[in-house]
Amino acid sequence: MSLPDPAPDATVLVTGASTGIGRELARELGRRGYGLTLVARARERLEELAEELRSEHDVTVAVHAADLVDDQERDAMVAAVRAEGRRVDGLCNNAGFGTLRRLVDIQPGRETALVRLNVLALHALTDAFLRPMVERGRGAILNLGSTAGFQPLPGFTTYAASKAFVNSFSEALHTELHGTGVSCTLLAPGPVRTEFGERAGAGDWRRLSSRIAVDPTDVARAGVEAMRAGRRSLIPGLAPQLGALGGRIVPRSVFLPLVARVTGRRQ
Ligand SMILES: NC(=O)c1ccc[n+]([C@@H]2O[C@H](COP(=O)([O-])OP(=O)(O)OC[C@H]3O[C@@H](n4cnc5c(N)ncnc54)[C@H](OP(=O)(O)O)[C@@H]3O)[C@@H](O)[C@H]2O)c1
Repeated sequence: MSLPDPAPDATVLVTGASTGIGRELARELGRRGYGLTLVARARERLEELAEELRSEHDVTVAVHAADLVDDQERDAMVAAVRAEGRRVDGLCNNAGFGTLRRLVDIQPGRETALVRLNVLALHALTDAFLRPMVERGRGAILNLGSTAGFQPLPGFTTYAASKAFVNSFSEALHTELHGTGVSCTLLAPGPVRTEFGERAGAGDWRRLSSRIAVDPTDVARAGVEAMRAGRRSLIPGLAPQLGALGGRIVPRSVFLPLVARVTGRRQ
């Protein structure tokens, strides 16, 4: 019930591998000898990473540039990966983004795209690759949730709700899979130093969270170890663990206005 050892005819598919946590997951897996399938929109960045992994670790790396918000591009990517013939022994559902702003202030459609990527693409890819794993009785999935998903976050409303889905889905699936030889692990970090804050339009909030933010290399190492061990869930670091606990136990009547004030001031 964990990620199988590397094999020449197998691969681990990482979404959002062009930068941030996804790129570090790919590097960590490559260092351990895993063949990789890299997915994101930025083909050039993926090709550069693929070249680095091939030359440093002598592993097989495939690149698939795809916009996972788009159902047809996602399905075409899945078909192309299958056609390559390598067994997908591991799946890291990492691609995702957030928007720090009130829902009414966000460009129409942006939040729909967020749900399509953070929720629907993650669900569809799990569905696509989990079944063959269960038939073989081996394989592992790592889903990027977030501490943002353990409570509602005004100002980060749709993002937190999307991660609540990922957190809940992943832990329940882990339990459903018991005895199948396949595992699903939730990796739920707090703030991590990546392009995430900039892409979220987070302004000052980014500077604030960067004081407690951790490096993506540390998150990736912990994530791969958790996936290798078939763990149910992991929140890397004590501060995010305490934050997640606080978000669950502080009464909502106190917590929600407080968060709204902080995120409102930081926009
Ligand atoms: N950073 C944090 O503080 C933090 C905390 C908790 C959880 N997380 C979660 O960790 C995951 C990775 O975030 P990160 O911090 O590494 O963010 P990041 O540096 O912004 O990287 C996001 C990755 O997702 C890919 N991506 C975005 N939109 C995509 C699309 N439509 N189709 C395919 N790929 C797409 C990006 O590649 P392209 O632009 O090339 O497509 C990029 O590789 C996300 O799910 C995020 O929610 C992050």
